[in-house]
Amino acid sequence: MPRLVLASAPAKIILFGEHSVVYGKPAIASAIDLRTYVRAEFNDSGNIKIEAHDIKTPGLIVSFSEDKIYFETDYGKAAEVLSYVRHAIELVLEEADKRTGVSVSITSQIPVGAGLGSSAAVAVATIGAVSKLLDLELSKEEIAKMGHKVELLVQGASSGIDPTVSAIGGFLYYKQGEFEHLPFVELPIVVGYTGSSGSTKELVAMVRRRYEEMPELIEPILESMGKLVDKAKEVIISKLDEEEKFLKLGELMNINHGLLDALGVSTKKLSELVYAARTAGAIGAKLTGAGGGGCMYALAPGKQREVATAIKIAGGTPMITRISKEGLRIEEVRE
Ligand code: PMV
Repeated sequence: MPRLVLASAPAKIILFGEHSVVYGKPAIASAIDLRTYVRAEFNDSGNIKIEAHDIKTPGLIVSFSEDKIYFETDYGKAAEVLSYVRHAIELVLEEADKRTGVSVSITSQIPVGAGLGSSAAVAVATIGAVSKLLDLELSKEEIAKMGHKVELLVQGASSGIDPTVSAIGGFLYYKQGEFEHLPFVELPIVVGYTGSSGSTKELVAMVRRRYEEMPELIEPILESMGKLVDKAKEVIISKLDEEEKFLKLGELMNINHGLLDALGVSTKKLSELVYAARTAGAIGAKLTGAGGGGCMYALAPGKQREVATAIKIAGGTPMITRISKEGLRIEEVRE
């Protein structure tokens, strides 16, 4: 059995279809070039120990035994991340039918609560590292499914798209737990972070309340979102040239943002960044992820620098990132 395993998993952006995906509609998402690293090793205490030194919140150290959690430093938003890690470790121990002390240490380049799938990435990287440590052979699909289970345990509701993209990587069309690889398109995008974060759990619950109160209004919005995703898929797999593809995708992004705004998940800041990006020459811009803060992204062929500057002037943090082909990666195994 290995003595130490280091695994990493990427962030994602939902290109089209967040929220409607919770209602069984399709979505398109892609892994991006920001990663969470999890190092797993055995310990003699018999407990699960979690250290998170840099998860874009003040550093913290936490350990817990079966019924107690000890926070050794200030944790803030990061506490949410920890429940993903804890459930991930427990699921793997259950799967391996083992009760043993495991320590994990986390570092991450992904801002927490920004709609970039930081929770799923940490869950997937943890499952990847701990399962390898325990000599459990799991496929990436199985790891994605376990990541989805972790999200359901922590959030209550989840489509499973985040852990799937994080485990598998690349460009995926996702519907009801099944995914399909789409041809890889190198999209010239800029991600803009509002600097504040929304709670996926609360936003999903808020949309659910609206849906239950006014199904005759909300159902057609969700339907429309589903159809829009299928149109985007047609464009991506079509033989159109790159420029035409970008134009059509940009238009669909703008419509998708409007529909998300109608659901109530955009914020003034998100829409300001979206409009600033469009004014600076982006073909399309929309919020990505759960909303309520977090991130937007813009499609800006030949205009990435201008759009990044506009996002900055509008008070956001721009990130020029790349779509990533790779999902979960085992970085190091020490015997
Ligand atoms: O904000 P994120 O990265 O957690 O994305 C949430 C996406 C939703 O569609 C709103 C929820 C889900 O489970 O798919």
